[in-house]
Amino acid sequence: MSLSVTSEEVTTRVGAICDGLAGLEGPLLPILHEVQEEFGFIPEGALQTIAKKLNLSRAEVHGVASFYHDFRDKKPGKHVIKICRAEACQAMGADALANHAKHKLKVDWSETTANHNVTLEPVFCLGLCACAPAAMVDGKVVGRVSKDRLDRILNEVES
Ligand code: FES
Repeated sequence: MSLSVTSEEVTTRVGAICDGLAGLEGPLLPILHEVQEEFGFIPEGALQTIAKKLNLSRAEVHGVASFYHDFRDKKPGKHVIKICRAEACQAMGADALANHAKHKLKVDWSETTANHNVTLEPVFCLGLCACAPAAMVDGKVVGRVSKDRLDRILNEVES
């Protein structure tokens, strides 16, 4: 997606997504997922379009979009690294791993590095509990992530 998508483009593209999915039972989540797939995040202007198409208030749509960690309200970096924060991973050192990632990248959760290369996000169980701590790098799950392994991953995405 271009960085300079106009509000008209957002309205048009989100409207088309709504038209395609509005007939589903419980269409809001599928629409939000599709909008994020389209833009990489949920643009501010998308909320009003979705609300109008589904006959909901903007606040209702915003409430759902902000409730789920999966939905972003900002364009992510070129690479997205998610670190699991759920119980099994926490028991295996995920907090220390996350702090290491934050320190190396100089970001907090859901922030993007200054060069717009990496976004760090929390995730709550990747189904890889037996290989904790787990992470996801650009959609690919990785288990037994040590600090050294994370450093190698960060070096790869930086190159
Ligand atoms: S708790 Fe982290 S993958 Fe399940």
